[in-house]
Amino acid sequence: MRKNIVAGNWKMNTTFQEAEELIADILDSLEEQAPNCEVVVCPPSVYLELASDYAGDYDNLLSIGAQNVSEYEKGAYTGEIAASMLASMNMDYCIVGHSERRKYFGETNQQLALKVERLLEHAIRPIFCCGEQLEEREAGNHFKVVENQIREALFHFSSDEFSNLVIAYEPVWAIGTGKTATAAQAQEMHAFIRSLIAEKYGNQTAEDTTILYGGSCNAANAKELFANKDVDGGLIGGASLKANDFVTIARSF
Ligand code: PGA
Repeated sequence: MRKNIVAGNWKMNTTFQEAEELIADILDSLEEQAPNCEVVVCPPSVYLELASDYAGDYDNLLSIGAQNVSEYEKGAYTGEIAASMLASMNMDYCIVGHSERRKYFGETNQQLALKVERLLEHAIRPIFCCGEQLEEREAGNHFKVVENQIREALFHFSSDEFSNLVIAYEPVWAIGTGKTATAAQAQEMHAFIRSLIAEKYGNQTAEDTTILYGGSCNAANAKELFANKDVDGGLIGGASLKANDFVTIARSF
């Protein structure tokens, strides 16, 4: 069964004290009413234990995810974090292939395939990001770009493996810009992604796959975006740093 998910990507923000305050505020506001979706927060990795401890105190009202993982299993890779480490801290999710990682850290679809593989080996659900740049959309290449990202990084997995994935469509021109995709643009791309999955893995897997929208999704526009039949929630950047806004988004179904 397809699940609605709202995931907060804190990126490289918050001090330890701010992270503690934010997680406590999110949990406090969520407690009043369980929303019709799974709520995930992805803080910087140094705060994962903190977030997970807090969530545990609140009956695991929140799931916790990491923002990145190493493509290697373990060993001499200074500064990297292995999937086995995340698993040993009971992480539920991990973002993979965010456009900022592709752009600033040169991550390729081949590397992302390895990251997804590591996560699946450790039963952590990857939130796989895809999305086109502005020039690619303007040139009419957006479907092709997204199709290539998904095909190259994911379509060698078995259907059992694929069923653990969450896809996040994040048009790069909408991330952190305040320029959200229209509900129609989001729906069109999500339906396209679902059709690719159906073609490769069959209708049932496609129907069951959660496809999130990301890119300037906020408390004011979430309802309209989530009302689309193929938009199953959001990956939220800026607005996930304000507890009230984030919880409003999570209640937008
Ligand atoms: P934004 O970021 O909501 O700040 O646009 C979304 C994301 O990068 O995941």
